[in-house]
Amino acid sequence: MLLAIDTSCDETALTIFDIQRALASNVISEDLIKSEIISSQIKLHALYGGVVPELASREHFKNLPILFKQALQEAQIKEGDITHVAVTRGPGLNGCLLVGLCFAKAFALARKISFLPVHHIEGHIYAAELMGHPLRYPTLALVVSGGHTMLVLLKSFRNYQVIAKTRDDAAGEAFDKSANILGLGYPGGYALSQRAENGDKFAYKFPIGLADADDAFSFSGLKTAVSRKVQELNNKCHSIDSATINDLAASIQHAIVQALVSKTTLAIEKYKPFDCILVGGVAANQYLRDTLNNECQLHNVNFIVPKHRWCTDNASMIAMLATRIVQEDGAIDDTLNQVALVGSMPRWQITNVEV
Ligand code: KG4
Ligand code: ZN
Repeated sequence: MLLAIDTSCDETALTIFDIQRALASNVISEDLIKSEIISSQIKLHALYGGVVPELASREHFKNLPILFKQALQEAQIKEGDITHVAVTRGPGLNGCLLVGLCFAKAFALARKISFLPVHHIEGHIYAAELMGHPLRYPTLALVVSGGHTMLVLLKSFRNYQVIAKTRDDAAGEAFDKSANILGLGYPGGYALSQRAENGDKFAYKFPIGLADADDAFSFSGLKTAVSRKVQELNNKCHSIDSATINDLAASIQHAIVQALVSKTTLAIEKYKPFDCILVGGVAANQYLRDTLNNECQLHNVNFIVPKHRWCTDNASMIAMLATRIVQEDGAIDDTLNQVALVGSMPRWQITNVEV
């Protein structure tokens, strides 16, 4: 059994995965996941309108040992059945990463088992394989969450090229900050998408950041434009009515989705991938899914969106990636004597995963 842990941000996530069967059969299916725990801290951080790093690491520290016991119970296994431990080493909030990493290192050293420190975004991408299909290279991945916005080309196994990343806010932040301006709470991405369903996406024209650049996203200009428009509307009529909020939400969503999909489409045309993967919390957005799916169909590219719980931060994606690493690199027990030296990498680049 493989124990996978992710504590990179505000979710304490653990998965127990039947790596032996995964390696033996080469077929990935959901029943290889023996236990999957995702403990969200969102209620705690909502009080502050964003993730408070110190509070997040304290919560991980408090909860991880308890959740580990719960994971063992759910999987109906004993500590001694665990043969591999995989953990997110970066990128993420340093204090948060350290909690998971130290737990995993101590566990691996005490039990003398294989230790696999892995990259969080690489994990997000490999979540696609949990859907049962091994990736074919080249593959294109759009990673969009509250913390990341990145378009990545997978040239071969663990060989990445970053096609575009954000210069300022992440796409999820753009949703959340706009939702906040509209008074829709935190994190407001989902609420904004709900309001957008009843709105007119052409009612307001919001800027599409860096529309001409194919190697970068930018969402900070959108936030300013939304803020100005809301102020202008408030000045006119004191309070904005519900139908106008819906129109604003639809127009904001349209601007964000256009920015994401237009650059992804350019990359599809240029690199001709077999698959296009959409992951991260913003992958929950139906308008984004539909728009990107349409482009993929037009270009004859296979479109993959993992199940929702594998799109947001989770440990099953870490288990999936670690399984592939073991499969490709064979036994890695000889690295055990170096476990103590493995530190966190809060700003780890995906182009440098094999360190
Ligand atoms: O991956 P994730 O759960 O965690 C972080 O990176 O923090 O992503 C959360 C982000 C938030 O910004 C949230 O507002 C956004 O995903 N999100 C959405 C939707 N559901 C979640 N954004 C747009 N539309 C949605 N339906
Ligand atoms: Zn993430």
